[in-house]
Amino acid sequence: EQINKGKYEHYMQKEIHEQPESLTTTMRGRLIRRGSCKSKTVLLGGLKDHFKTIRRSRRILFIGCGTSYNAALAARPILEELSGLPVTMEIASDLLDRQGPIYREDTAVFVSQSGETADTLQALDYALENGALCVGITNTVGSAIARNTHCGVHINAGCEIGVASTKAYTSQIVAMAMLALAIGGDTISNQARRDAIIDGLYDLPNKVREVLKLDQEMKDLAQLLIAEQSLLVFGRGYNYATALEGALKVKEVALMHSEGILAGEMKHGPLALVDENLPIVVIATRDSCFSKQQSVIQQLHARKGRLIVMCSQGDAASVSLGGSCRVIEVPLVEDCLQPVVNIVPLQLLAYHLTVLRGFNVDQPRNLAKSVTTQ
Ligand code: G6P
Repeated sequence: EQINKGKYEHYMQKEIHEQPESLTTTMRGRLIRRGSCKSKTVLLGGLKDHFKTIRRSRRILFIGCGTSYNAALAARPILEELSGLPVTMEIASDLLDRQGPIYREDTAVFVSQSGETADTLQALDYALENGALCVGITNTVGSAIARNTHCGVHINAGCEIGVASTKAYTSQIVAMAMLALAIGGDTISNQARRDAIIDGLYDLPNKVREVLKLDQEMKDLAQLLIAEQSLLVFGRGYNYATALEGALKVKEVALMHSEGILAGEMKHGPLALVDENLPIVVIATRDSCFSKQQSVIQQLHARKGRLIVMCSQGDAASVSLGGSCRVIEVPLVEDCLQPVVNIVPLQLLAYHLTVLRGFNVDQPRNLAKSVTTQ
């Protein structure tokens, strides 16, 4: 049943729309409210014998490719905050090219939807040889990464058929947010923050259901952008990953050049591209980076940038500079979970752009669901 398209025309469309359910499955049995004081906690059975080692490690490395790498990047800030450990990012092929240093005191987390990506698997062999504790985060029970790591978390997003990853991405972020909560442990000092994140996780499927209502709006936007050569996506902080992943979706399925840009780097190059023709999505939902993003919007506007601003509900007036930019309003959630909500309109945009441009959504030109050769 999972692998037929049901009422949808394409698998990618189905997988985008089933995210409220896939996220629920990812969290099922793992969020616990216990005792009369309703203290909240996270249970990740696959890691239970390894938390001590993880907490004692010198650093955590995230290793993956493509969308899985982006999901890890989205989870990095909350893992750093709750674990207090340095968290470094590695694209699997790059780690292998450099033969970057990995130590026995490291925890290496391998993120892969399929669990079979050749570069990620080879990086796993490399980390094992170097004595690191290896953790797998996959969507495929029995996959090579699930089998060969010391421990791990299954994201349980259900079978993903569309080559462009959508529901696995959001489930990966949620699985890694739960990983951060589990590693962080229950200390008094972070209890309010932890409770807010756990409450946010419970409510996340509803928020995603709400943001999916932007489908028609994203189709209209796609219509507007159908003939463009290029699309830039600016993000920062929690949503730097959203910018990379949104741009990746657009380029891989709609076959349109698209680049995710770290807004903090705007003045170091990207600003030269800005004119009245190039469409730019700026992600400016409420979090600690909001005022910096407001200033980015003003600077892009001053160069006559053609802006589409993603903001929190109720902020349209304050970010649209007197109605001069198009706005996408999304529900506000706990900052570290906001990437899960924010990617959805961009997934919808990429989907509609592809269909309108007449390309194959589920099997983009030259790409494979799982890259099992190097
Ligand atoms: C391919 C797929 C992507 C995926 C990447 C990593 O490029 O087309 O959708 O993100 O591989 O795959 P993995 O299975 O390791 O997550």
